[in-house]
Amino acid sequence: MRYLSSLKPEDFKNKICLLRLDFNAEDNWRLKASLPTINFLLKNSQAVVILSHRGRPKGFEKALSLRGVSKELSREIGRPVVFIPHFRFKEIKDLISASPKGAVFLLENLRFIEGEAENNPALAEHLASLGDIYVNDAFAVSHRANASVVAVTKYLPSYAGFGMEKEITHLSRVMRKPAKPLMVVLGGLKIEGKLDVYKNLRGKASAFLVGGALTEDLMPKLQLPKILLPIDFKLGPKRSIRDIGPKAIKEFKKEISKAKTIIWNGPVGDVSQKKFSAGTRAIAEAISGNKKAFKVVGGGETVMFLKKLKLDKKIDFVSTGGGAMLEFLAGKKLPGIAALQ
Ligand code: 3PG
Repeated sequence: MRYLSSLKPEDFKNKICLLRLDFNAEDNWRLKASLPTINFLLKNSQAVVILSHRGRPKGFEKALSLRGVSKELSREIGRPVVFIPHFRFKEIKDLISASPKGAVFLLENLRFIEGEAENNPALAEHLASLGDIYVNDAFAVSHRANASVVAVTKYLPSYAGFGMEKEITHLSRVMRKPAKPLMVVLGGLKIEGKLDVYKNLRGKASAFLVGGALTEDLMPKLQLPKILLPIDFKLGPKRSIRDIGPKAIKEFKKEISKAKTIIWNGPVGDVSQKKFSAGTRAIAEAISGNKKAFKVVGGGETVMFLKKLKLDKKIDFVSTGGGAMLEFLAGKKLPGIAALQ
C-alpha cells in the first residue's frame, strides 16, 4: 500500500495534486474528515485539484452540483476555491498551469459525465492529465470501480490519503484482532452487505445485535448462530417494524456493556421520526458510555444521529464509509484500495 504519510513534504514541490474526496453527504462531516489531507497538500504542493461525486445522477442535475460545496470548502480551508463547472479538460489544464502556488480547484460532480461510473480509461487519462500525483482520501467510495477512483491510478503515482490510512488501520484492527468480546450492532433498512459482514466476523464476534427494518429480512434466518434479534418492537403502519422495544433495549444494553470491541453500522429504528428513535438513542448512549471498549461506528444515518446527540466524540473511530465500511468488514477487496497497492 502506498501511503501519503510515507512521502516527504519536498516530494510535493512544484507538483499538482489530484485529490479524490467524497462529498456525497448532506452534512459536511466527510469534508471535515479530509481536512488534514487537504491542508497537507495545500501547504506542500503547487496546486490541488479536487474530484468528487454526489448522488447517482443521470446527466446534469442542478440539485447534485458541487458548486455549493466549493463555498463550504473555501470557508473550511480559509482560501478561495475555483469551481470548474465543465469538463473541457484542455481548458482546465491551461487554467491550472496559469495559477499561482496554493491554488485550489474543485471539479463539478464527476457522475455528470459518462465514463465515471463505468471506470472508463479515456476519462481517467483526461483526469490524470490535470495533475502529477493522485491521492485518494475517499474511503467512502472506494468500493466503487469508478474512473476517478480506480482507472486514474494507472496514469499517475497514486497514494492513500491520511483519512484513508486511518480507515484501513482502524477497520483492519477491529476485524483482525479485536479485544474480546466483540459485539457487532447492525441496523438500517437493507440486509444488503450485512450478511457478508456476519459471515466474515462470526468466528470472532460474541454476538450480532440486529435492529431496524433489516430485522424483517433476518426473521426467516432465525437459526443463524450468534444473531440476537429484538424480543419486542415498536410497530408502525401495516405492522411494519419501526423500532426495537423496551425489552430489546434492555437486553442489547446488557450485551453492549460486556463488550471490549464494538462495531456499529445502521440505526435500529426509523430515526427520521422521533417516536421511533428511542431504541437507536439508547444504543448510541450505551455504546458511547462503554468506556472499556474500542468503538467503531459508520454509515451516514448512524453518524448523523450520533452527531445530533453530540456523542460522536466519544467514539474511538467514526468511519466515513457506509457501504464501503460494510464491504471492508466483510473481508472484500475494495477496488479503490486495491488500485493503490
Ligand atoms: C456513499 O455515500 O456510500 C458513497 O459516496 C458511494 O455512493 P454510491 O453508493 O452512490 O456509489
